[in-house]
Amino acid sequence: MEKLEMLYEGKAKKIFKTNEANVYLVEYKDDATAFNGQKKGTIQSKGIMNNKIASIFFKLLEEKGIKTHFIKHVDDRSMLVKAVQIVPVEVIVRNIAAGTLAKRLGLEEGTVMQKTVLEFCLKSDELGDPMINNYHIAALDLASEGEMETITKEALKINDILREVLDKCGIELVDFKLEFGRTKDGEIILADEISPDTCRFWDKTTKEKMDKDRFRRDLGKVEDAYQEVLRRLEEAIPNA
Ligand code: TMP
Ligand code: ASP
Repeated sequence: MEKLEMLYEGKAKKIFKTNEANVYLVEYKDDATAFNGQKKGTIQSKGIMNNKIASIFFKLLEEKGIKTHFIKHVDDRSMLVKAVQIVPVEVIVRNIAAGTLAKRLGLEEGTVMQKTVLEFCLKSDELGDPMINNYHIAALDLASEGEMETITKEALKINDILREVLDKCGIELVDFKLEFGRTKDGEIILADEISPDTCRFWDKTTKEKMDKDRFRRDLGKVEDAYQEVLRRLEEAIPNA
């Protein structure tokens, strides 16, 4: 597989064309940003760890029947994925109150939700990813009603699968963000990444944060936390 010109550079990843139609190469960077790019930094080897962690999650999800863009882990920093057009809606799944949900609703961080909460945000750096609902999504024609039904169902299934495997790792899945894409044939599949950059992971017993909140909140030991998530996943999933 040949890596051709760069199509897009985001805050944490670069996307390249390849010599195969409909296959892109994703390269994971060490760059870290928070608060819509206002805080910038580097997390040593983050690209390598997130590429591996995301590969493990995508492979597991595929095995459990979830359609994703993942093709294969190529090397330290890159994976091959199916080309998609990203649906400009970020899907946030919450099991435990934290971050903006805790703030917005005046809940103490750590409050267990009686039912899983789904939120949608418009994917727009310019506007700071404002929260939207199904009416906005339909009104702005961001996705069809059928596509939103698929996205909602898949997001909840993904939550169940990830919670189960993370539980075996002694990790609580507090919340996470997903992005979906449309293939050339109009199929909705999971895209982007699943990693400590896009999830909140808490140690089940100590409640210690094992994700990007360590960077956002200057808690230190950021690299160690990512490494520990990877170590536990590799231990829990043989041949990961
Ligand atoms: P929030 O509490 O800041 O709204 O974040 C909810 C979840 O979404 C959390 O797991 C972190 C993730 N997230 C991203 O992946 N990208 C983002 O740009 C933001 C703001 C949150
Ligand atoms: N990735 C987002 C940004 O830079 C925010 C975050 O993850 O907190 O701005």
